[in-house]
Amino acid sequence: MGTCVISPRMISLVTVVLILATTLSGQTPEPIATRETEAWLQYTRLNANARKLYSDLPASVVLLGKSAVLESAQQELIHGFDQMLGRKLVGKESVSGNAVVLATTDSLKILAPSVHPPSAIEKDGYFLARARIHGADCVVITALNDRGVLYGAFALLGKIARHEGLRGLAEQQNPYAPIRWVNQWDNLDGKIERGYGGPSIFFLEGRVRDDLTRAGQYARLLASIGVNGCTINNVNAAPGILEENSIAQVRRIADVFRPWGVHLSMSVDLSSPKTVGGLDTFDPLDSHVAEWWRKKVDEIYRLIPDFGGFVVKADSEGRSGPSAYGRTHADAANVIARALKPHEGVVFYRAFVYNHHLDWHDLKNDRAKAAYDNFHPLDGAFDDNVIIQIKNGPIDFQVREPVSPLFAGLRRTNEAIELQITQEYTGQQKQLCFLVPMWKEALDFDMQVEGKSSPVKDLVSGRFFHRPVGGFAGVANVGMGANWLGSPLALANLYGFGRLAWDPNLSSEAIVDEWTRLTYGSDRVLVQTIEKLQLSSWHVYESYTGPLGAGTLTNITGNHYDPGPESSEENGWGQWHRADHQGIGMDRTMATGTGYIGQYPPAAQKRYESLEVCPDELLLFFHHVPYTYALHSGKTVIQHVYDSHYDGTARAHDFIAQWKAVEGHLDEKQYRDILARFEFQAQEADKWRDLICAWIYRLSGIPDKNGRVGNLSRSQESTASVSHEK
Ligand code: GCU
Repeated sequence: MGTCVISPRMISLVTVVLILATTLSGQTPEPIATRETEAWLQYTRLNANARKLYSDLPASVVLLGKSAVLESAQQELIHGFDQMLGRKLVGKESVSGNAVVLATTDSLKILAPSVHPPSAIEKDGYFLARARIHGADCVVITALNDRGVLYGAFALLGKIARHEGLRGLAEQQNPYAPIRWVNQWDNLDGKIERGYGGPSIFFLEGRVRDDLTRAGQYARLLASIGVNGCTINNVNAAPGILEENSIAQVRRIADVFRPWGVHLSMSVDLSSPKTVGGLDTFDPLDSHVAEWWRKKVDEIYRLIPDFGGFVVKADSEGRSGPSAYGRTHADAANVIARALKPHEGVVFYRAFVYNHHLDWHDLKNDRAKAAYDNFHPLDGAFDDNVIIQIKNGPIDFQVREPVSPLFAGLRRTNEAIELQITQEYTGQQKQLCFLVPMWKEALDFDMQVEGKSSPVKDLVSGRFFHRPVGGFAGVANVGMGANWLGSPLALANLYGFGRLAWDPNLSSEAIVDEWTRLTYGSDRVLVQTIEKLQLSSWHVYESYTGPLGAGTLTNITGNHYDPGPESSEENGWGQWHRADHQGIGMDRTMATGTGYIGQYPPAAQKRYESLEVCPDELLLFFHHVPYTYALHSGKTVIQHVYDSHYDGTARAHDFIAQWKAVEGHLDEKQYRDILARFEFQAQEADKWRDLICAWIYRLSGIPDKNGRVGNLSRSQESTASVSHEK
């Protein structure tokens, strides 16, 4: 994807011409061109009519207090007003006329005791209001802390960008949870594991990049959606990240994050005391090991005083772990947590722990059980600055999984949900798959712990079990490519992650509407088309890649992208769907299967255990059934698989037609770029349809009753088989 090289000056010029054209003709605005690196912070110039909405806004900005974060808030406002309204906000020391006032609640109290922000305002939350101060008409942006003020500034600018009226403004916002982090899986050599948006913005050839401009821009984007932390390196951590000279380099990244209120954290390898520190052990219960972590952490905080903490992947996929010494995950997490505690740092300890050499012959074996089996028995054993980071589903970011039962299995332990923004198993940004609807299903899933309403969002945020800390971690993997993720429409997933982490009660429709308007302006045809495409894309992708919860039909031993249903079977990775000549699906029931369903609270057990009530979309995740089994829809499983692949593919082709309706509504180059992506996606869908249908027909021997499957050429059928080699 090429970079759109348009300078801000050119943009302004184009915009002026557009506004003139629009005003004179009264027609639809001319196509807009977005600056890709600005993502949803386009701040496109409003047309004359929309600008009238804001004619009464102040012309000056007063900043009370001094900090890098507050400075960012002020600069952002000045920039946004200039871009969108063509007005230069003048920075002033005190309120001597109408002004936008940026202040923490403490400073505001001194300046304007008569203005009362709501008492319910929390850390990182903010209050936006119109208020009279010293007789002047002001817009107040206030918060308990500087970061809240910054978030308030972004919120105000977002409202203007979306043409929302500001009369009578009095809005309070609090984040749903304190943890709203992204993880980057960047390697020190500059490559990104499962990254599809170009090389690392942090590292190049084993060192921190000299030019960290993009890292700073990233922090700004994160701040604009309320994300307050970023882990900069791969969970499969190179121990070298903790070398003295590496920490000194990482400090420079923290420096560019700081003005945006983004805490930096690092992934670390548990063996570091040995591999980096030269000790002869990394046994978490060894006092020298504890001492090593303490000193290392102190060293980090000397250079990075606002350091966030560590992410740990241990005893998983070949990583070292506490099992080497017969210790528990709690032992491992706590030794690090205790070193961080005096500095208020946290440990994200990942629950993605499983045996990848499982014996596939044993029908009772089940990788899905691993997280719960490993961590539930340790509930209550973790220190209070440890957060167990749990993937949304029990396997690994598949297109459809039930939620992990571990969310309900930890009552005396902090937790965070790990969502994957980078589309590893969902089209790798080459195909459109807007994940917010999927994430919302997970977050809204009611575990009914002890019969009480306990949706996953309330378990991870710590609200339900009254935990001190918890929240959301999103694996983002942005890169140096101009549009960060490798696809312009995929950026809605990054935006959506931040918005859900801030408020999981927002609807998918509201989120995509915000994102689309912020990115592409308010042209109705364009906005409606993009929103419709985004909102349907997950189901479309699912229907031609993995219907009925069959799980991984993707090539799991290769690129995690192409169809490869046989790659899941007959190996130790445990992503089995158990398709044979009679039937398909994993029997995870308590009665006859692996017993996985027993890990859920009773209400969810009931929902999944019985074939009668188990939802069709997860049928094959929980049950092994014959191909002739009739779904709730009345269709047989095999016919559903055929129909789903054909319908899904047809809908993917229809994306092209839908997109064609926006020609002329956005810049030609961007229009063509996205068109080419949809054309490619349609071809990929055809490929998926043909391969999966051929594969399942070969296994079942049951033809499509609509006559579409069974006529494929031998060469098409044989490519449905892939090797089992890792
Ligand atoms: C997936 C992914 C790996 C990653 C792992 C993890 O398996 O393919 O690249 O390391 O998840 O989350 O740790």
